[in-house]
Amino acid sequence: MPEAVVKVKEGVVPTKDTRIVLAGVVSVPPIAIGAWQWGDKHVWNWTPEAEKDANEAFDKAFELGIPFYDTAEVYGDGESEREISRFRQKYTQEQKEQQIIATKYFPHKHRTNFPDVLLSALKDSLARLGTMNVDLYQIHAAIHPVEIEVVANALADAHEAGLVKTVGVSNYSKEEVQRMYDALKKRGVPLASNQVCFSLIRTLPEKSGLIKLCHDLGVAILAYSPIGMGILTGKFGSKGPWPEGRKETFDSLDTDQLERLLSVLKALSEKYQRPQSAIALNWCIVKGTIPLGGARTAQHVEQNRMALNFRLNDSEVAELDKHAFEGTTSEWKHG
Ligand SMILES: NC(=O)c1ccc[n+]([C@@H]2O[C@H](COP(=O)([O-])OP(=O)(O)OC[C@H]3O[C@@H](n4cnc5c(N)ncnc54)[C@H](OP(=O)(O)O)[C@@H]3O)[C@@H](O)[C@H]2O)c1
Repeated sequence: MPEAVVKVKEGVVPTKDTRIVLAGVVSVPPIAIGAWQWGDKHVWNWTPEAEKDANEAFDKAFELGIPFYDTAEVYGDGESEREISRFRQKYTQEQKEQQIIATKYFPHKHRTNFPDVLLSALKDSLARLGTMNVDLYQIHAAIHPVEIEVVANALADAHEAGLVKTVGVSNYSKEEVQRMYDALKKRGVPLASNQVCFSLIRTLPEKSGLIKLCHDLGVAILAYSPIGMGILTGKFGSKGPWPEGRKETFDSLDTDQLERLLSVLKALSEKYQRPQSAIALNWCIVKGTIPLGGARTAQHVEQNRMALNFRLNDSEVAELDKHAFEGTTSEWKHG
């Protein structure tokens, strides 16, 4: 099996050309673009007029050399995948091949008929995306109504059928990752990634040893909500008011601690002459993860891209760690 590259090496300044190689097969830049925002009405107040902004965000990521997009069948009930297909229409085949598309299977409780149910959901995703295969196919969370080994076999079938280049999971705990890794290995398929909630407001995946375990197994960590759903930009301050869809997350944070964390981020943003979001994303990279910054606009992408070409030093990382939040697990977030 080809060797996976799971992270930017210690001491290396990440650039758009620094490569991480998922399962030794799919070569990706050190940051990605999250596409939950493209079509989601519940948290991100999507309206059809926002499609223009999303299209510009998609194009900007391509132009800036970070064309790695993370979507899911449930984002906007398939709308995020459909938009990605529309955005790609103007690109040549060669350009399309440079665009890395990751999507996810949603393990609804009623979806019990494996492997058929997964293969048919995957084919629906491919149809919406307008593509013959995807670079990375992930299980959205470990809430499936069947054993991990059953899901692993379905993923391996999808891989064997050439519908996915690599397979991954999301929100999996250490034990769940190990089981998925072992089950896939029996079928000769490497587990490429585990996508988990990881940021300065949720460091649990590092504290629990999940990141280390994954790296030891050759599994990359994709960090979702790496800007803390926007709070680490500093734009909401430490007391709010918060946007409706994000209240629950932000209300759980201790105001004084958040204030201290934001002030360290602000000082670093002044030192490096970059937005606070870029500092928060660089911290994720230094911790060995690939941050998926959610981007509604081209400006968000430009600012995320500023997470590259510098590297926080050890004492800066330690200062951020001192004020960071550990966070908790939940029914959804096992990892
Ligand atoms: N696997 C899972 O269970 C799971 C769960 C959640 C997310 N994800 C993935 O991870 C991606 C990112 O996570 P996320 O969207 O939850 O959180 P995030 O990346 O931490 O935050 C994204 C939001 O922060 C704000 N923002 C981003 N950059 C900004 C900037 N430069 N200036 C000002 N505001 C900025 C924007 O919201 P506003 O402008 O509206 O404030 C943006 O929509 C998602 O798109 C999705 O692909 C996966």
